[in-house]
Formats: sequence, C-alpha cells, structure tokens
Amino acid sequence: MAILGGTGQLGFGLALRLGRAGVPVVLGSRDGARAVEAAVRASARVPGGDFSGAENAEAASRADRIVVLSVPYASQASTLKGLGEALREDQILLDATVPLGPAVGGKPTQLIGVWQGSAAQAAQSLVPKGVRVVSGLHTLSASLLEDLDHDLDQDTLICGDRKADKEPVAELLGRIEGLRVVDAGRLEQSRIVEGLTPLLIGINIRHKTHAGVRITGLA
Ligand SMILES: NC(=O)c1ccc[n+]([C@@H]2O[C@H](COP(=O)([O-])OP(=O)(O)OC[C@H]3O[C@@H](n4cnc5c(N)ncnc54)[C@H](OP(=O)(O)O)[C@@H]3O)[C@@H](O)[C@H]2O)c1
Repeated sequence: MAILGGTGQLGFGLALRLGRAGVPVVLGSRDGARAVEAAVRASARVPGGDFSGAENAEAASRADRIVVLSVPYASQASTLKGLGEALREDQILLDATVPLGPAVGGKPTQLIGVWQGSAAQAAQSLVPKGVRVVSGLHTLSASLLEDLDHDLDQDTLICGDRKADKEPVAELLGRIEGLRVVDAGRLEQSRIVEGLTPLLIGINIRHKTHAGVRITGLA
C-alpha cells in the first residue's frame, strides 16, 4: 500500500501503525528525498517494519491495491492531477481528506461546502476511470496514531459505493490494533463523516484531548 502525503501528520502516523502490523508501506511526497527521509524515520520507530519512500506518483504506482490520500484539502486536486496515469483501474483510493476552513482562510473547526458534496466525491471525480474511492480515517488523531504506546480503542467510519471496495480497506485498517472499521454507507455519506472532524477538533480544543468516535450497538 502507499500513502500520498506520507510525510505529513496523519500519513506518517498511519504508516507507523500499519508498518507495526506487518504491512509494507510506501510513503509518498511531492519530493522523493523527503519521502525517503520519512521512510528512514519510520524504520527507526518500527524496527522490522517494511518502509520505503518515493515521489507521490511513483509511490502510487508501487502500491498493489490501496493508495491512501492524506493531504490538505487545498492540495487534494493538485495532488490527484499530479499523479497522471499512475493510479490503475484495479486500485482503490482511500481518501482521508477533510475540507476544513483553513483551505479558504477559515478555522479548523469549520467545514467547507464542496461542490461535489464531499471531499471524497471530489476525489472520485478526479481519479482515472475505473479507480474507486473509499473514504475513511477522518476521525483518527494523527498524534494518537503516532504515539505507538497509546491504545487507539476507537472506530473509523468508511464510506464507498461498493462493498467489494470497502472490504479490502476494512481488512487493511482492521490490522491496526485497537481500531474497529465501521461501514458507514455510500460515498455520499462521506459528507456527514467528514463533518465529524471539525466537530472533534472543537471538542479537542475545549477538553484539551484527542477525541475519537465509537459507534455503539453493533454486533
Ligand atoms: N492531522 C490529523 O489528525 C487528521 C485527522 C483526520 C483527517 N485529517 C485529514 O487528513 C489530511 C492530511 O492531514 P495532515 O494533518 O496529515 O496534513 P499535513 O501534515 O498538513 O500535510 C500532509 C502532507 O501533504 C503534503 N502537502 C502539504 N501541503 C501541500 C500542498 N500545498 N500541495 C501538495 N501537497 C501538500 C505534504 O507532503 P510533502 O510536502 O512531503 O509533499 C504534507 O506532509 C487532511 O485533509 C486532513 O484534514 C487529518
């Protein structure tokens, strides 16, 4: 699997958790050298983990099935366009993008309206035909992911139009200790799930914590 924006807060934390679970991870960046440097840092944190680094398009093409997109909303479109034809028809783009206020000069506690309905639907409109988008990871705190001693003990909600696309994503993320994956419905539901991030950011500010979500009542 590959993480575009793997040098960033969420991407790097996710790489550590997946690497510790035995998943080979390619960290992507706009700058290949920065990606390699992040992979070296990840290897130091998770001895025995399989980390490598590459420029984003190269990272995407090295991934087998799942490519995570973990960049700020303001750079979502340029990152996806910059991949050219690197994404293949058999790949799934797991989009973690949240359209937060700072992209337009606002606050991180504000959600921006996206023409397509959600950042995930915007991503779907930007990837090559045949590539399917699943969204997830929105409510995970990068700080907690990166703190490998912290028990995550929470859920992540994933959205996508096909069960067959969500299954491999659930299998991958389910390998992270303490994380339960909950299918939250079609891709259009991502608009609602993306809205949980600014809500949690506000809760975090108010309660000086790193809050997450847990859905109750599931078997
Ligand atoms: N941080 C969290 O706790 C968290 C939680 C849930 C969801 N999210 C969402 O996940 C996404 C990533 O969040 P983050 O906090 O990891 O972001 P970040 O650290 O600010 O950025 C992630 C990476 O994106 C690349 N990037 C930054 N600015 C860019 C630009 N102008 N053009 C192209 N690439 C750029 C950078 O990689 P290179 O410079 O190496 O290319 C950077 O390392 C966001 O959409 C965020 O809303 C974050």
